[in-house]
Amino acid sequence: MNNFEIPIIIFAVLTNYLIYSTANNEFNENQSTKSEEGCGCSSVNRKSGELLENTEDSNINVDHGKYSSAANVVRKYPQTNQMGFIEGGKFMMGTDEPVFVADGEGPSREVQISDFYMDIHEVSNAEFELFVNATGHKTEAELFGDSFVFESLLSEKTKASVTESVAAAPWWLKVKDCDWKHPEGPDSDIKDRMDHPVIHVSWNDAAAYCEWSGKRLPTEAEWEYACRAGLNNRLFPWGNKLNPKNKHWINIWQGDFPAHNTGEDGFIGTSPVTEFPSNAFHLYNMVGNVWEWTADWWNVRHNTTPSVDPTGPSSGSDRVKKGGSYMCHKSYCYRYRCAARSQNTPDTSSGNLGFRCAARNLPEYLQHSP
Ligand SMILES: *[C@@H]1O[C@H](CO)[C@@H](O)[C@H](O)[C@H]1NC(C)=O
Ligand SMILES: *[C@@H]1O[C@H](CO)[C@@H](O)[C@H](O)[C@H]1NC(C)=O
Repeated sequence: MNNFEIPIIIFAVLTNYLIYSTANNEFNENQSTKSEEGCGCSSVNRKSGELLENTEDSNINVDHGKYSSAANVVRKYPQTNQMGFIEGGKFMMGTDEPVFVADGEGPSREVQISDFYMDIHEVSNAEFELFVNATGHKTEAELFGDSFVFESLLSEKTKASVTESVAAAPWWLKVKDCDWKHPEGPDSDIKDRMDHPVIHVSWNDAAAYCEWSGKRLPTEAEWEYACRAGLNNRLFPWGNKLNPKNKHWINIWQGDFPAHNTGEDGFIGTSPVTEFPSNAFHLYNMVGNVWEWTADWWNVRHNTTPSVDPTGPSSGSDRVKKGGSYMCHKSYCYRYRCAARSQNTPDTSSGNLGFRCAARNLPEYLQHSP
């Protein structure tokens, strides 16, 4: 099954919410694992570790004893995202053991990356608000007047007003007047989530923010190099084991997708941008929490010729996103791995898609910050 052969999205008009609920209850795992197109990670478009338990996990910055969702909230992040220096080098991008072959996770190929800087965490609501205040930027979700939200995060009132969902992934509802300041529609706000990643931002919005902040979006190769943080051929930024030391290292889905998220990792939706341990490059939430836009156009064929600072295809219709989100579960969207990838059109926005920026040189205004 190839992403180009099948229209990624088909809208189903729902006569009422009851029909939707019924369909949802009939969801079963077999349906989900077979339907890659319906994966909660890629099907939304505006255009119409238990694997290797024995590996060592040396590459983790663990704050022993403090790991719990509530404990980390004290870390108030700065309003202007700090950047980490990423020393360049060679690495193997992609994987020869792809989970989703159709996503172009493989083959593994040698890539050389030059020194660069990477935002240590996803761009937060507070940071995005600085940008909007300074520029008056209107996001595409605001201009279109809607965005996609995972059904169970919505109030009954908002759910009742929804008329469209994604046929292949009916838990995605198209919500009117939903945007970064109203992440679950008009009756929601971000007051208590200023330190969470901004969501409902399109690739175009993300690129505009990065440019305003003297940065740019990372290439997919830079993003993956930063995710792997010096480890070779590992699944996650810290190693191969999903829950080393029996703790959660990542904001993903626990429970049965999409019926019930137990929130065992502390979060049903997004988490603060500095939640969970950082990787060896001191980067937070490279996997999980929200998908992150990258600069590259999407394609699924890669050649194995070694390359230097690759920037992806010169044109395309979709942009690459990396890292998976709080909605990902191994049974269904096992894409919270460094090699995993997915795509959306550049004008798409949703409640599990954000970004962080990169730069070749550290912007001047960050050079003297603590
Ligand atoms: C999934 O498929 C397997 C094998 O085909 C079958 O035994 C099982 O009952 C199915 N599960 C559900 C929930 O349909
Ligand atoms: C943005 O502007 C609003 C309205 O003036 C203000 O209340 C808010 O604090 C500003 N946000 C930031 C992050 O400075």
